[in-house]
Amino acid sequence: MNIHWDAEKYTHDFAFVHQYGSSLLDLIEGEKLSALDLGCGNGALTKELSQRGYDAEGADASGELLQVARARYPELRFTQADAVNLRMDRQYDVVFSNAVFHWIDREKQADMIARVYDTLKPQGQFVFEFGGYGNNALIHGALGRAFARRELTYQMPFYFPTVGEYATFLERGGFLVKTALLVDRPTRLKGEDGLYEWIRMFVKAPFEGVPPDLCEEIIRLTVEELREVLYRDGTWYADYVRLRCKAVKPAA
Ligand code: BEZ
Repeated sequence: MNIHWDAEKYTHDFAFVHQYGSSLLDLIEGEKLSALDLGCGNGALTKELSQRGYDAEGADASGELLQVARARYPELRFTQADAVNLRMDRQYDVVFSNAVFHWIDREKQADMIARVYDTLKPQGQFVFEFGGYGNNALIHGALGRAFARRELTYQMPFYFPTVGEYATFLERGGFLVKTALLVDRPTRLKGEDGLYEWIRMFVKAPFEGVPPDLCEEIIRLTVEELREVLYRDGTWYADYVRLRCKAVKPAA
């Protein structure tokens, strides 16, 4: 994952990412556990883990986001690490992750799961959520049509698996799957330009090499096509679908 984030904008305008992640913390069982927040971003959920009494620390590949996390929560430990090559200097009772794994290519998921397995203690809990099958299908469909209207090909930049596919990856990686759910979660976006800003923030790779004025035109076409379905009563909604899972590493 080599993404350059506008960390301040992400923190201020896309706070729903961690706000929704908060209920995911309820899947963790036990008290006073050590927990790694994998792909911690600006550290908001690492902080919440710590407020819930866990011995929490964060890891993220992005230097920009870690800078924000360290400035906001200087009392917590944050490490720069990529999930696919994760090598921490200790094992944890919990590895937690919110809204991260769709950024990792399907081909690299098994390696990432193996790294998480090694990072957990026996009986450790792997609790996570990310974009599941059908996530943002309306948005990516409209982007695909807008690219095609300008004779360009839209390459889907994310991995959004089914429950069956992902549970199989986890089981092959040695985990026991306790919970795996695909949940529709229409998500309110901020402001009159909510969808435009969302595309600008999150959909970067397909626009690489496309001249700026053409990018602008494609995004405008996409937003106008989706106004009828995703703009209601003055608010934009993104058609999110979450894959929410809890898996456990067996006892040694
Ligand atoms: C998600 O959280 O599902 C997501 C966010 C941005 C881009 C793709 C997926």
